[in-house]
Amino acid sequence: MRAGQLILLPTETVYGLGADASNPAAVAAIYEAKGRPRFNPLISHVADLAGAERIAVFDERARKLAAAFWPGPLTLVLPMAPDGVVCDLARAGLESVAVRCPAHLIAHTVLAAFGGPVVAPSANRSGRPSPTTFADAVEETGDKVGAALDGGPCEVGLESTVVGLLDAPRLLRPGAVTRGQIEAVIGPLAEAEDDAKRSPGRLARHYSPDAPVRLNADRAEPGEAYLGFGPGPGDPALNLSPSGDLREAAANLFAYLRAADRTRPSAIAVAPIPDEGLGEAINDRLKRAAGFVG
Ligand code: TXA
Ligand code: MG
Repeated sequence: MRAGQLILLPTETVYGLGADASNPAAVAAIYEAKGRPRFNPLISHVADLAGAERIAVFDERARKLAAAFWPGPLTLVLPMAPDGVVCDLARAGLESVAVRCPAHLIAHTVLAAFGGPVVAPSANRSGRPSPTTFADAVEETGDKVGAALDGGPCEVGLESTVVGLLDAPRLLRPGAVTRGQIEAVIGPLAEAEDDAKRSPGRLARHYSPDAPVRLNADRAEPGEAYLGFGPGPGDPALNLSPSGDLREAAANLFAYLRAADRTRPSAIAVAPIPDEGLGEAINDRLKRAAGFVG
């Protein structure tokens, strides 16, 4: 990364495509490797709170959330520090910066050794499901990197929750830390129907396999693959969680979408998932995989 190259970096959420956040050429190479629109800013990853405070301005709320959930799957959008090194392109020109301190031994070791912030979007090509295994990460962008680190399957399997703290606290992207967990620490999150516009990454069609995705399906039509949830019909190998556990379903979601896609079905039908707790983030990703505006 010091030489401006990209790496595949395992985190507890999904595999990231990492680069030096202060190096505009390296950051440009990330956008190019992913085929990502330039207006979609990247998350800067740091080893610890001290590293985060070098690039972002923390208020009381930010400190509380960092104390509660870092290291872990929470990203904070904060005003950029006046002398922060995260380059313009990584922030897509915004005055704010997204920062996260991952809870993964390999990610932490790399970040601590590197010393500065590392941008790491999910290692998929833009619009595709995020990779949650080393093999999937290598398949997506392995040909674009100077090094690839194998951390095995990602424990969480869903991207970090993104909370905006530029004014009233907002849930910009539901994720591994639930709305309820955030509200227990800083109180109610503001409701805003235009949150998708505030977080430019929230494209309607995103996380999509090649096959169309059909939601809230009780069973598969002929030719379809079926992703089950809880006891019910379908291939047990594609059941997100036979016991109906949302954590297990989150961890399996992207890998199972990819596995279903590999059978070249006419569509991927997905069982209804309860919308509480982690289910909010799972349903968010599923709606986007299906191409619905969120
Ligand atoms: O779990 C994760 O967060 C993974 C792992 C690798 O850490 N990374 C990840 O990054 O999901 P990415 O780039 O795929 O998603 C970044 C999200 C996008 O929705 C983007 O729009 C939002 O964060 N974001 C980044 N900077 C922002 C900013 N300044 N204001 C608002 N939203 C921002
Ligand atoms: Mg992504």
